[in-house]
Amino acid sequence: MPPRKIIIDTDPGQDDAVAILLALASPDEIDVLGITAVAGNVPLDLTAKNARIICELAGKTDVPVFAGCDRPLGRDLVTAEHVHGKTGLDGPNLPDPTMPLSDGHAVDFIIDTLRREEPGTVTLCPLGPLSNIATALQRAPEIAERVQQIVLMGGAYFEVGNITPTAEFNIYVDPDAAEIVMKSGIDIVIMPLDVTHKALVTQARNDAFRALGTPVGVAVAEMTDFFERFDKEKYGSAGAPLHDPCVTAYLIRPDLFTGRHVNVEIETGSELTMGMTVADWWRVSDRPANATFMGDIDADGFFALLTDRLARL
Ligand code: BDR
Ligand code: CA
Repeated sequence: MPPRKIIIDTDPGQDDAVAILLALASPDEIDVLGITAVAGNVPLDLTAKNARIICELAGKTDVPVFAGCDRPLGRDLVTAEHVHGKTGLDGPNLPDPTMPLSDGHAVDFIIDTLRREEPGTVTLCPLGPLSNIATALQRAPEIAERVQQIVLMGGAYFEVGNITPTAEFNIYVDPDAAEIVMKSGIDIVIMPLDVTHKALVTQARNDAFRALGTPVGVAVAEMTDFFERFDKEKYGSAGAPLHDPCVTAYLIRPDLFTGRHVNVEIETGSELTMGMTVADWWRVSDRPANATFMGDIDADGFFALLTDRLARL
């Protein structure tokens, strides 16, 4: 099978960085057509810079990186420096990128790519707020039927929320965009906190990254060292949750994940529960299924895959 063509839409973020590295390390399965940056964990200028830092760390400077939306569709931007640090990539000491940003807006790149490639051959992989993806769908609605699949990190059901008591960060930041995506009719796979809070970088897993002894292995160990302090304090968990790499791991080994095809709606009205992903996990409503909402992960298999692939960079 030829590698799956994808666009990574991202707000790096240490866990976004690991997701990108996993994809770039897996050319037999994944062909990264481009990376589109969006405002999220930190403002757009930093996410667009961080995406290029990661491409250079991976030695893949031929991957085009585009800057996209600098704010959500209808709300003020909320960022997460309290988790990711001031730069978004705090932890390792990585050089500023020398590769330039690609010309043009990320939304135009998404639209143009979907119009150019054969229908049903391009998968979108959003790892941050869905502002770029929703803007592309609003501007060019006909691209929806050309998308092979959307595999995204966002939302929660049993874990409920991490930025508010009821909302996960990516969906909370741009709930209007998330609603547009959920109603698009596209085949959607969701990696919620229910899965990603089981993908924890324990000390042994962090040691395995560092033991690779490569610039990539050491940088990933240092990123997760930094990133883990937040979740350890908040949840008392064993280490940093690698949220976004669940998306790129799914493209390589979908068998590592299990979930349910159910209805998922986004709360966009109530300030109390803004951005909540109302997943009908128990199928108690008549609302039609519109997404595969993952619930479990083979965490040991996931970390074995990740460590093996990072060793290739
Ligand atoms: C999501 O929010 C960001 O902080 C992470 O990069 C991840 O995409 C987890 O809620
Ligand atoms: Ca992210």
